[in-house]
Amino acid sequence: MSTCIEPNVPRRVTLRTLVKMAKRGEPFACLAAYDATMARWLDRAGVHVLLAGDSGSQLALGYERTIDMPLDYAIQITAALRRGALNALVMADMPFMSYQADDADALRNAARFMTEGLADVVKVEVDGSHADLVAKMTRAGVPICAHIGLRPQNVGLQGGYRAVGRTAEEACALLADARALQDAGAVLLLLEAVPDPVAAAIVEESRVPVIGIGAGSAPHGQILVAHDLLGLTDTPPRFAQPFAELGPAIRDAASKWVSRVSDRALPTDAYTMPDDEAARFARLRSKVPEPDRQRAED
Ligand code: KIV
Repeated sequence: MSTCIEPNVPRRVTLRTLVKMAKRGEPFACLAAYDATMARWLDRAGVHVLLAGDSGSQLALGYERTIDMPLDYAIQITAALRRGALNALVMADMPFMSYQADDADALRNAARFMTEGLADVVKVEVDGSHADLVAKMTRAGVPICAHIGLRPQNVGLQGGYRAVGRTAEEACALLADARALQDAGAVLLLLEAVPDPVAAAIVEESRVPVIGIGAGSAPHGQILVAHDLLGLTDTPPRFAQPFAELGPAIRDAASKWVSRVSDRALPTDAYTMPDDEAARFARLRSKVPEPDRQRAED
């Protein structure tokens, strides 16, 4: 008996899907998001990968820096993306100091992202010096995405956000990081804020799919923060072109709501009461016992 596979029914995206797409030269689309409702809509659009980014500390929680992302919250939003999205691959983003302090801690926290957070892949911001950690996590069964280039968790050290790989030496160091992390077992690379030719060189020799953000068009996949794509952020990064203006749309809808409420112009028939029950209520109302105020005050 042959199994009938329905055409055009989207299938769950797996790591293997991304590897196949990368091999075929078919770019895949990734977005960072932080809740199940957003995940549902992004998934319906066919987005291949959803990242529960630590950018959520800024965009969902209102902190100034990504390093303020609380570990438990990061795990919760990873699971929320999984519950919201039917098909997309879900990537967790390990927050600051959830993997840097010691390896045993890193393994335990990565396990939480996979079990409680239901993550398919776990992302860590690293360089070649973390190859041993990546190897340990890989041996333990954690599929790792190695985020290299600009690492927002390190901007304190770098004195701010800056592109990486703009000198030949930096470009060579980045290439060496990419090699070391793949050799250690990383299943994906993510390149942030890297000049196009450097990203192209890394992609050219990479054995795993490479995701880019501000890294030109060579990477196999591209990622953006959904809030930037949707026009919800006031100052999106220069490479993020908004495809919608949801910020002003939200403001306009909410301001209509403010006017409706102040005009008492709301629908009054959402829930109705039969006339005879309304008449009985009018009669019974005076018989509802008053609370014993004296006892409540004691
Ligand atoms: O936290 C984040 O949103 C990221 C980016 C790569 C999009 O790490």
